[in-house]
Amino acid sequence: REKYPKIKRNDSFKKLEQEDINFFKSVLQNDNGVVTNKDDLEFFNEDWMRKYRGESAVVLKPKTVQEVSQIVKYCNEKKLAIVPQGGNTGLVGGSVPVFDEVILSLSSMKKIRSFDKVSGILKADAGLILENADIYLSERGYIFPLDLGAKGSCHIGGNVATNAGGLRLLRYGSLHGSVLGLEVVLPDGTILDSMHSLRKDNTGYDLKQMFIGSEGTLGIITGVSILCPARPKAFNVAFLGVSSYEAVQKTFVHARGELSEILSAFEFMDSKSQKLTAKHLNSPHPLDDPFPFYILIETSGSNKEHDDAKLESFLESAMENGLIDDGIVAQDETQVQTLWQWREQIPEASTIGGGVYKYDVSLPLPDLYGLVEAVRAKLNDANLIGETDEFPVVDAVGYGHIGDGNLHLNVAVRRYTKDVEKVLEPFVYEWIQSKKGSISAEHGLGFQKKNYIHYSKSDQEIKMIKDLKNHYDPNGILNPYKYV
Ligand code: FAD
Ligand code: MLT
Ligand code: ZN
Repeated sequence: REKYPKIKRNDSFKKLEQEDINFFKSVLQNDNGVVTNKDDLEFFNEDWMRKYRGESAVVLKPKTVQEVSQIVKYCNEKKLAIVPQGGNTGLVGGSVPVFDEVILSLSSMKKIRSFDKVSGILKADAGLILENADIYLSERGYIFPLDLGAKGSCHIGGNVATNAGGLRLLRYGSLHGSVLGLEVVLPDGTILDSMHSLRKDNTGYDLKQMFIGSEGTLGIITGVSILCPARPKAFNVAFLGVSSYEAVQKTFVHARGELSEILSAFEFMDSKSQKLTAKHLNSPHPLDDPFPFYILIETSGSNKEHDDAKLESFLESAMENGLIDDGIVAQDETQVQTLWQWREQIPEASTIGGGVYKYDVSLPLPDLYGLVEAVRAKLNDANLIGETDEFPVVDAVGYGHIGDGNLHLNVAVRRYTKDVEKVLEPFVYEWIQSKKGSISAEHGLGFQKKNYIHYSKSDQEIKMIKDLKNHYDPNGILNPYKYV
C-alpha cells in the first residue's frame, strides 16, 4: 500500500480534539452522524483499490445542507482539513484522507427532492446512489444519463465531482451537458444554491461547471439537478470477436454509420482482460474461440423490430466485409446482463492478484492500443511480468470506451512495488503526452496523478486552477494533498 513517503502533513492544519468531536455531535444529532469507532472507520480510510490509506479519526454523516454548512464553516475557522467522500469508488486515491483529515461522507443525504415528468428533470441529494436514482427513473419511463460498473455504490454527487463518463457517454454526452444545476457548500460554509432547471441560461458564467470534475477541492456538492432522457424501450447487446485492433476501429466506423441513432455503447476489450475476467467470474467465455480483441455493442431505441433489423443488417455486412469473425446477440434481458458482465467486471477482475495500477487515458484512436503494447514490452524487458508468484505483475490489460477515445490500461499486480512503479511512471505519462492525449479521460487526478497534471495542462491553465482554489479556499482545507 501507498505510504505517502514524499508527503509531509501540513502543520498549519489543526489536529482533531475532543472539543471538535463535541461540536460535531452537537450539530449531527442523528444516529451514527459522528463515527469514531476504529473498525467502522476502516472502510472510509481505504480506497477501492486498497492502494491508498489515510488515518482519519472521524467520519461525519450530515443529513441536510445546513448541517454540511455548519460543519464546513467550523472546520474552516479551526483549520481542520476535510476530505469529501461519496461512495468511495474513485480510482485515483482522491476520496480518502492522506493523513488525519475529517471525512465528510454524503452517504446520509440520499433523498429525491423532485422529479418533473414532463421535462425529465431530477433533483436529488448528492448522496443518492446512482443505481437507486436509475431505478426510481425507470419506474417513471426515464433513465439516468450515466451508467457505470460502480453504480451500486457510487453517489450521483461523486459522479458529478469526478465528471464520470461511463458506458453510455457516446449516447448521452458528458455531465457538463446534462447537469442543469448544483447546490454546493463552499469552503467557508456558504451555501451556493444553484439548483436550476433550465436547459438554456446564458446569464453570465456557468458557475456549476467549476464544480463538475473538481474532485472535492472547491466545494461540497450537496444537491444535483439533472436532465434525464426517456428510457429506451428496446435494448440489444452484441458481443463480437475480431482479429486485430485495426478491425476494432473499422467496426466502430461501420457501427456509427449503420446503427447511427440507436448506437448507445461501443466498448472494446483485449484478450488478456477477458482471461482475467474468466478467472474472476469462474465461467466460460461467451465466445467459444479466443480472439485478440472483443467488442460489446449496445443499441437502444423505441422500436424493437426496427432495432433488431438494423443490428442484424449491420452484423451481416460487418461479417461480409471481414471486420468481425464471430459474435453473439443477447436473446433476453438476462443475456444482456451476462454479456455486459464481461465488460463491467474487468476492473474487479484486474485486482485478482491483490492490486492494480490503473491508467485512464484519452488518445487518438489509431494510437490507443499502442500504449498497452508499449507498457507490456517495458514490463517484459524489466523481467517483472509472469505467471508465477516471483513476478510482481500478473498482466497488463487494455479495454475501454472506444466511442470516446478512452483507453483503460490496468496493470494487475501481486504486490505494489517501487520496481514496477518506476517502469510505469513517468513512462506512461510521457507516452501519452507524445501523442497529445490526456492523462485522465474520466477518473480524475486525485492523489495518484497529482504530480503529473503538467503532462495534460499548460502552465497558464494550472495557474488559473490554483488561483481559483486560493480564492475560494484560502486555508486549503478542502481535499488537501490532492491535485491542486
Ligand atoms: P468517491 O470515490 O467517494 O469520490 C471521488 C472524488 O469526488 C473524491 O475526490 C471526493 O473527494 C469527491 N467527492 C465525492 N463526493 C463529493 C461531493 N458530494 N462533493 C464534493 N466532492 C465529492 N468512472 C468513470 O468515469 N467511468 C466509469 O465507467 C467508471 N467505472 C467504474 C467501475 C468500477 C467498478 C469502479 C470501482 C469505479 C468506476 N469509476 C468509473 C470510477 C468511480 O466510480 C467514479 O469516478 C464515481 O463517479 C465516483 O463516485 P463516488 O461517489 O464513489 O465518489
Ligand atoms: C470502466 O470503464 O470500467 C471504468 O472506468 C473503471 C475502470 O476502468 O476500472
Ligand atoms: Zn471507464
